[in-house]
Amino acid sequence: MGPPDAETRARMSAFRADLFAGKVAVVTGGGSGIGKGIASALGAHGATVVIIGRNAERLEAASHELGAGCRGMACDVRDAEAVTATIERVVADSGRLDVLVNAAAGNFLAPAATLSSKGFRTVLEIDAVGTYNTSRAAFLAAMRDHGGAIVNISATLHYGGTPLQVHAAAAKAAIDAMTRTLAVEWGPAGIRVNAVAPGPIEGTEGLARLLPSSLRESLQRTIPLRRFGRVDEVADATLFLASDAASLITGAILVADGGAWLSGPALL
Ligand code: NAP
Ligand code: COA
Repeated sequence: MGPPDAETRARMSAFRADLFAGKVAVVTGGGSGIGKGIASALGAHGATVVIIGRNAERLEAASHELGAGCRGMACDVRDAEAVTATIERVVADSGRLDVLVNAAAGNFLAPAATLSSKGFRTVLEIDAVGTYNTSRAAFLAAMRDHGGAIVNISATLHYGGTPLQVHAAAAKAAIDAMTRTLAVEWGPAGIRVNAVAPGPIEGTEGLARLLPSSLRESLQRTIPLRRFGRVDEVADATLFLASDAASLITGAILVADGGAWLSGPALL
C-alpha cells in the first residue's frame, strides 16, 4: 500500500484541512526525507508548495507523488543568485510567499582532525549560508510586504558535544543564532522565524548516515519515549509553527525528539 493521498492525510490530521488554504510555501530539501514529509503535510492542508533541491529528477518524482499544488524547482541553496532567481520566480508565478521551510542540509561522519577545510565549509555553506540565502530572498521578494513564517530545521547535536560532527554542529548552531536574530530583525514586518530541532527520525537519510545500526537499539533505550521520531511528527511540529496557531511565537526552537537529548547523547 502506498502513502495516503492528500485528502486522506488531511482527514487523519490533528489540524484543520484548510489551515494553509490560499498560502504559498517553499520547502528546501523538499524532495526527500523530512523536507518531503513537511511539503506533503503543507500541501495536504491547502498550501501551494514549491520544493527545492539540487536533483531535478528527484524533485520531479517527489512533486508527482505529492500531487497537484506541488512543484519542484532545482536550485543549489549555496548559490545566492540562483536562490534569488528561484524565489522571485515563485513570487512572480504565485503572487506571494507565506511560508519558508529550510530543511536542506548535508552531513557525514568525519573526525575533526582529518575533515578538510573544504568539507567543513561545504556543510556550513549548505546548512547555514543556504538558510541565510533563502530567508533573505524570501524577505526581499515577498515577506517584507505581507509578513510570513520561516521555519528552520535544526538539530540537537550542538547542545552538547557530538564527536565526528564538528561541521554539522557549527552549522546548526549558526542556524539557531539566525533563527533568533531574524526573529528580532523581521518581527516588525510581521514575519515569525522559528526552528524545529528533531532528534533521530526513522527512515531518513540522516539516520542512515549518522547512526550505525549497531547503536540503534541501545540509543532507543536511553530516549524517554523509548523510540525514534517519525517524519510526520516533525511535519506536525513544523505546521504548528508555520500556522496562525503559533501567531505569538517567534525566535523559538521547538525540540521534537521524544526527550532524547535530555537523557542521552544527541548523535544527530
Ligand atoms: P535528506 O533526505 O538527505 O534531506 C536533505 C535534503 O537537502 C535533500 O532533499 C537534498 O536534496 C537537499 N539538499 C542538500 N544539499 C542541498 C543544496 N546544496 N541545495 C539544495 N538542496 C540541498 O535528509 P533528512 O534526514 O530528511 O534531513 C532533513 C533535515 O532534517 C536536515 O536539515 C537535517 O539536518 C535535519 N535533521 C534530520 C535528522 C534525522 O534524524 N534525519 C535529525 C536531526 C535533524 P538534493 O540532494 O536533491 O539537493
Ligand atoms: N568524509 C569526510 N569528508 C567528506 C565526506 C566524508 N564522508 N564527504 C564529503 N567530504 C568533504 C570533502 O572534503 C569534499 O571535497 P573533496 O571531495 O574535494 O575532498 C567536500 O566535503 C565536498 O564534497 P562533495 O561531495 O564535493 O560535495 P557536494 O556538494 O557534492 O555534497 C555533501 C555535499 C558532502 C554534504 C553530500 O554528502 C550531500 O550532498 N549530502 C546531502 C544529503 C545529506 O547529507 N543528508 C543528511 C542530512 S542530515
